[in-house]
Amino acid sequence: MAINLQQFLAKQLSDGVIDQQLCDLLNAVADLSKEINDKVTHGALAGVLGFAGTDNVQGEHQKKLDVITNEIFVEGVEWTGALAGMASEEMDHCLPTPAAYKRGKYLIMFDPLDGSSNIDINAPIGTIFSITKAPEGKIADESFLTPGRKQIAAGYVMYSPQTILTLTVGNGVFMFTLNLGTGEYILTKENIRIPVQTQEFAINMSNMRHWEAPVQKYVQELLAGDTGPLGKNFNMRWVAAMVAEVHRVLCRGGIFMYPRDNRDPSKPGKLRLMYEANPMSFLIEQAGGKATNGYQNILDLQPEKLHQRVAVFLGSAEEVERVTSYHE
Ligand code: AHG
Ligand code: MN
Ligand code: MN
Ligand code: MN
Repeated sequence: MAINLQQFLAKQLSDGVIDQQLCDLLNAVADLSKEINDKVTHGALAGVLGFAGTDNVQGEHQKKLDVITNEIFVEGVEWTGALAGMASEEMDHCLPTPAAYKRGKYLIMFDPLDGSSNIDINAPIGTIFSITKAPEGKIADESFLTPGRKQIAAGYVMYSPQTILTLTVGNGVFMFTLNLGTGEYILTKENIRIPVQTQEFAINMSNMRHWEAPVQKYVQELLAGDTGPLGKNFNMRWVAAMVAEVHRVLCRGGIFMYPRDNRDPSKPGKLRLMYEANPMSFLIEQAGGKATNGYQNILDLQPEKLHQRVAVFLGSAEEVERVTSYHE
């Protein structure tokens, strides 16, 4: 018999894996993602394509959908009574729970729309979220700076041919497919395990000349094929949305890399630690894979700033360990 997300969460609640507040919060995230799904699938018909005409704190030109999905996310979770505050890629500073609503015990961090450059070409995009325990007292940007290892839950929603919500609450990785007819997320994959070995990699090759030596060496070896030092041929994929790359890695293995770049030494990579690297690394580790910044496990990094960037190597353990060892 098919299990929907509400039933799955009710079982986690009765098993003592999650509490009522987390259950309410995850149900709210699932609900708001259906609203985002509605907007992204209607595209031009809903007037949501193109630029918003504003920049975010990271210096990116915001798309209309970056702004719209941020609003949908904020309004979708602020009322739940489960949150002390939230922080987003698209907001300069955190947003403590407004006085009008009950304060809860959790914090949520999110990338409301991942893969912004894919919006206008109707290619895969997503939403990523990370949930931690809130500290006591007043909530400020510093309240969010806990290592990824302390996450209570994390997940993403991928909007593509199918809309899929992928979730971990610390006991494995589960995927739910949205049934557009009934509006239910149905459990369609559980206990996901990433193969230890792989012959597939993902990296934006156009940046090759800017990479540091360890990544140059590693990618040369991948390209050398079965007569090279790795002794096998590799295939390459690049969707330009981390959600889609991580989804592929969870489904069939692979290594995904967004290394640091020597163009701008102030930026240690492109991806954001709090909204992208931490939640995805939690999912990857829960599925038996590995995630590092070339030196350390991403989940062990002590964050210093809310919008901090980080280099990312994640996926099948054998290849992530190899490229990490080249950095030593
Ligand atoms: P966002 O759209 O949330 O700003 O994130 C985009 C990120 C990530 O999803 C993706 O892996 C990467 O940027 C794509 O980068 P390139 O433009 O170098 O392909
Ligand atoms: Mn962005
Ligand atoms: Mn993103
Ligand atoms: Mn984004």
